[in-house]
Parts: sequence; C-alpha cells; structure tokens
Amino acid sequence: MTTIWHKLYSLHEDKALAQRLGESLGLEAGRLDMRHFPDGESYLRILDEVKNRNVVVLADLYQPDRRILPLLLLAETLRDLGAGEILLVAPYLPYMRQDKRFHSGEGVTSRYFAKLLSRYFSALVTVDPHLHRYHDLSEIYDIPTRAGHAAPLIAEWIAANVDKPVLIGPDSESEQWVAAVAKQAGAPFTVLSKTRRGDRDVEVSIPQIERWRDHTPVLVDDIISSGHTMLETLSHLTRLGLPDAVCLAVHGIFAESSDEKLTAIACRLVTSNAIPHPTNAIDIGGLLADSIRVLG
Ligand code: R5P
Repeated sequence: MTTIWHKLYSLHEDKALAQRLGESLGLEAGRLDMRHFPDGESYLRILDEVKNRNVVVLADLYQPDRRILPLLLLAETLRDLGAGEILLVAPYLPYMRQDKRFHSGEGVTSRYFAKLLSRYFSALVTVDPHLHRYHDLSEIYDIPTRAGHAAPLIAEWIAANVDKPVLIGPDSESEQWVAAVAKQAGAPFTVLSKTRRGDRDVEVSIPQIERWRDHTPVLVDDIISSGHTMLETLSHLTRLGLPDAVCLAVHGIFAESSDEKLTAIACRLVTSNAIPHPTNAIDIGGLLADSIRVLG
C-alpha cells in the first residue's frame, strides 16, 4: 500500500531545496523550534499535531557526527508524539566508505551507522550513496531504501556547459557510472588507475589522455572529500598541457578547505545541492521527489 506523506520537517541548510521538495510532493511544512541550550545540548519542540501523521525528515548529513544526534532526537520526539511512518531523506549518506575491516580491530562503521538509522526511521531516500563493496543499501539497512541516480543530471549539465568535454573517472570501480554519464553527454571518457595509501595519500595515473589534448577535462566523482584524488589528477593534466579542468562531484564535502585548493589550480568546481555549497549547480530536488514517489 502506498504511504501518504503529510508533513516535511527539514534540518537541511538549503531552505530552497526543502521548499521545492515539499511543494512538489504537496507536503505541509512542519514547524519546528530547534536550538541549543547554553551548555550545547539540543532543545527541540514540534509545533504541529503529528499523531498518526506520516512525516518526511530532510537532513544534510555531511560532517555527520555533529548532525546525527539532533536528527535522532527529532525522530525520537516524532515517535513519542505518535507520528506514523518517518521517512529520512538524506541526499548525502555518510559512513559508507568504511565498508570492510581494512585492519584488525577496526569498526565496520558503515554497518553500525546503517543499523542506527534503521532503528529510528521507517525508510530512507538518498542520492548516489558510495556503493563500493556493497552492491545495494539493503545489504546493511534493515528498512526500505531508495537511491536516486544523479548521472542523467550530471550529463545534462556537462552537455550544456562544457565545450568538447572528455570525462575522467576516479577509479576502475567507477567505470560503468562514468561510461553512462559520458554516453548521455555524448563525450569520450577514461578512468584513472588509483592507489590510495592513506586518507590524504593518493596516487593516480591517467591512461591515454594525450589524444584528447584539445578537449576540456571533466573530472567526475561521487564524492570530493580531502580533494586529493582530484588534486593528484589535476597535477598530471597540467603537466600534459590540457586546458583548465572542470571538477564535478555529486557530493562536495570539501574537507580541510579542499575547495580552495582545487580552485587555486584553475579548476572550475561544480557540485549538486545534495550538500549545500556555493558550487551547487545541479539540482537534485526532482530526483528526491521521484525517489519518494517510487518508494511508495
Ligand atoms: C572513492 O572511492 C570515491 O569515489 C572518491 O574518489 C573519494 O571519496 C574521494 O576522496 P578524496 O577527495 O579524499 O580523495
């Protein structure tokens, strides 16, 4: 049976995204008083009647450790006040990269985080989660999930904004994804061979890029975090004398000011509004709305 959603509560910094999502799904905007006590603890009060109402919670979860507790407190309060189903819409889904025990004694935090969210929410909608060793979110989430794919939106942006693009993907696992974006954008592509030795230690090589010397390199990735994957790639492109690149990601985390480091070497940064950032140029609002409709 299809769930009818009634209200949308947003903890997302992008107010316009919340408004568009609410409007396209015909949801009432939930009224919420949320702030911090002087000691830093969260205060929250829901200013609507939510008993037996099915609610959607939109949240940005980059830098998740400081955002997760207020989110869980909101979910707990909604439940306590008698809300029905609670759908979490997290355009960026964190804690997906620690998807195995790389060294003895490590926590497989992707699993623990999934278990945690599954206890508080009835369902989850996200965009392009980092599925590397997992093939589907159902391998770790106990609730229904739906992941929208931004590839068509990325391809559309490239086709409309870049002259003679050649797409460059981050690693062999991304090949299918990059190939699909390239096909839709009508552009050639190649993928890097990448070795990651540490959080900030990445080595890449770019096969056969010389033949596209007169093309605009478009580095596409699901995530830019420390920026080292792109910085390392850009250093090769500069040495080969290719035109200034476009660095495009679905999720621009930009840890440790990597956005500034990337723009400093003449890279045009473009991201989707899954994570709020001045480089947001690709709107995933429609994708989220479609995913919620499909989830039913
Ligand atoms: C990894 O497999 C991802 O697709 C990205 O390439 C990675 O998360 C980028 O991280 P960073 O910006 O820290 O190099």
